[in-house]
Amino acid sequence: MLQKAELLRTPIEHYDVTQFNVVPLVEAMRYMAFSARDLARAADITDRMMRDPDCGILLCLAGSLVSAGLKKVFADAIRFGMVDAVVSTGANIVDQDFFEALGFRHYVGDEQLRSGMFDAQLRELHIDRIYDTLIDEDELRICDDRIRQIADELDPRPYSSREFIRAMGAHLEQHGCKAPDSIVLEAYRHDVPIFCPAFSDCSAGFGLVAHQHRRGDAPCVTIDSVKDFRELTRLKIENPTTGLFMVGGGVPKNFAQDIVVAADVLGEQVPMHQYAVQVTVADVRDGALSSSTLKEASSWGKVDLAYEQMVYAEATLAVPLLLGYAYHKGGWKGRRPRRWNRLLDALGDPQLPLAAASRE
Ligand SMILES: NC(=O)c1ccc[n+]([C@@H]2O[C@H](COP(=O)([O-])OP(=O)(O)OC[C@H]3O[C@@H](n4cnc5c(N)ncnc54)[C@H](O)[C@@H]3O)[C@@H](O)[C@H]2O)c1
Repeated sequence: MLQKAELLRTPIEHYDVTQFNVVPLVEAMRYMAFSARDLARAADITDRMMRDPDCGILLCLAGSLVSAGLKKVFADAIRFGMVDAVVSTGANIVDQDFFEALGFRHYVGDEQLRSGMFDAQLRELHIDRIYDTLIDEDELRICDDRIRQIADELDPRPYSSREFIRAMGAHLEQHGCKAPDSIVLEAYRHDVPIFCPAFSDCSAGFGLVAHQHRRGDAPCVTIDSVKDFRELTRLKIENPTTGLFMVGGGVPKNFAQDIVVAADVLGEQVPMHQYAVQVTVADVRDGALSSSTLKEASSWGKVDLAYEQMVYAEATLAVPLLLGYAYHKGGWKGRRPRRWNRLLDALGDPQLPLAAASRE
């Protein structure tokens, strides 16, 4: 019989881009072929967007990235001012980053578990499996409940996910963060907004369901995803030159790309995203959004063609190379911090017409 303590023994360790100078490795790939050449070009574009003084950079995350050991890469990108906003699935931000900030860990699963033959036993032990990674379900329930507590303490009104995640950062600052790196806490400290357009589709959803259920007919916290869209669109209007660094695809990819169109709907002329890199394993033949090329996005008026590059690779391999290259090239050192959370505060009530508020 499998033992829980035995299974949850070896924690996932997060990759540290600062420790390994990958610049010579990536440069050596430039005159190779296939994925290596694509990756080298994507690394150049990533570095280029960081050197463009006008460019605001959006980091888009889908897939199980934080649980897979990429948390510190993204926390450092925020800490060093390499990105100005994050658009993510809720799982990365709540179930994985906030979860670790509460002191919990993800664990390396033994190779035999990948077969799926032991999943019924894992279920009995309250262990969840993400391919080769294990999580204590009892700890996840504590994470869900912490979200409920945060909601209970807020004024009952509609919040964008950005506002709610900022409250999660404030909670960590106030009550202590039990992990050395946290995307939520670093974003809070650097006024970097995090948007999760499908915020309820993760641990946050369980916490908010509990919050609303307990409130009954009394006023409660709700999440307004349209407000997220309005806020993100505002940022594009205020900072027209933008670059996207996208991992996976999914809702974050589309949501971030769509702000160009949303600005147009509001009568504001903004350029397409000038720089775009996407790392994905998705296959273009399914016609889905995650797999759609950035050239295809250009047909929708979302992404400019000059500096775009798809990298068909699994994220744990490609992201350390791409963001490691950008980190060691140092183009980010001259970037001014946007502190977009403050900008959104200063712009005031998001209920105001966007164009009027942005000209005040
Ligand atoms: N992934 C999880 O463990 C998890 C857990 C709880 C909730 N959820 C929720 O499920 C929804 C879907 O989320 P999702 O994050 O799994 O995304 P997703 O399944 O929508 O993935 C989007 C695309 O990203 C690509 N992708 C995913 N992982 C990749 C990787 N490691 N490398 C390269 N490409 C990769 C895939 O091709 C996929 O088509 C979200 O709302 C999320 O909050 C996910």
